[in-house]
Amino acid sequence: MPILVIADLHLDMWLHAGRDPLIALSPNLLSALDGLIIAGDLANKPKVRWPHMIRHLVQHVPAERIHVLPGNHDFYDFILDGEDRLAEICAAEGANFAQKSSIIIGDTRVLSCTLWTDFALHGDPVRAMMVAQRDMNDYRYIRSDGAGFKRIRPSDTSFLHADHQTWLEGQLSTPFPGRTVVVTHHCPHPDLIGERRGDLDAAYGSNLLPMIERFQPDLWLFGHTHWRVEAIVGRTLVKNVSLAYPGQVPVEEEEGILLRGLLTEVTA
Ligand SMILES: [Fe+2]
Repeated sequence: MPILVIADLHLDMWLHAGRDPLIALSPNLLSALDGLIIAGDLANKPKVRWPHMIRHLVQHVPAERIHVLPGNHDFYDFILDGEDRLAEICAAEGANFAQKSSIIIGDTRVLSCTLWTDFALHGDPVRAMMVAQRDMNDYRYIRSDGAGFKRIRPSDTSFLHADHQTWLEGQLSTPFPGRTVVVTHHCPHPDLIGERRGDLDAAYGSNLLPMIERFQPDLWLFGHTHWRVEAIVGRTLVKNVSLAYPGQVPVEEEEGILLRGLLTEVTA
């Protein structure tokens, strides 16, 4: 029951550069996958680009085995409160939309949500939100239909963070006999956010260590930062499975990077 989780595929940018990152993987592996889970940042401008991107993925993996979780980029030139539309695009292509989804594949339960952040990483969320609003593209390129098509604010994404965290805690509280894998776009570990950006760190990750220690999922895979780091927290391996933009990855390392999020069957 192999499942492959890839974050930050940024497939629009790869195809624009005339490249297909998935050809680094063997066709045999791709055709044997029981699930391909995109952990956010499939493409900017989703209303226009997601149908093409999903059709491209379907050249490698059957549509019904593809699950797409939106990252921040998947809302660019779009609306934060437009997930119904994203779900429709996935459904029209025969693929699955994976926001707040519990995906059961064989003995594995994959719990997926974007996560966003609480801006509390350095203990001053008011300041962190002010800096994010000023400096982050998310608050320039994403709008809210419900707020008169105005640009979103950090309070909008921190509200979603609280909602996603509550959903995740509810799911993790539900016993499951097999392996539990959490997939988020944003980082749940204070030491795995990669490059330090001062006040902006809090827009990349949150400190969810108490939650990880409480529930001890087998794995927590995430992306967003393009820093492929990992750490063990109790029984949980927390691991970044980002690809990145074309040109950010040495060609000879593409296969190994794409395979960081390969889950094979658990044998008791
Ligand atoms: Fe991202």
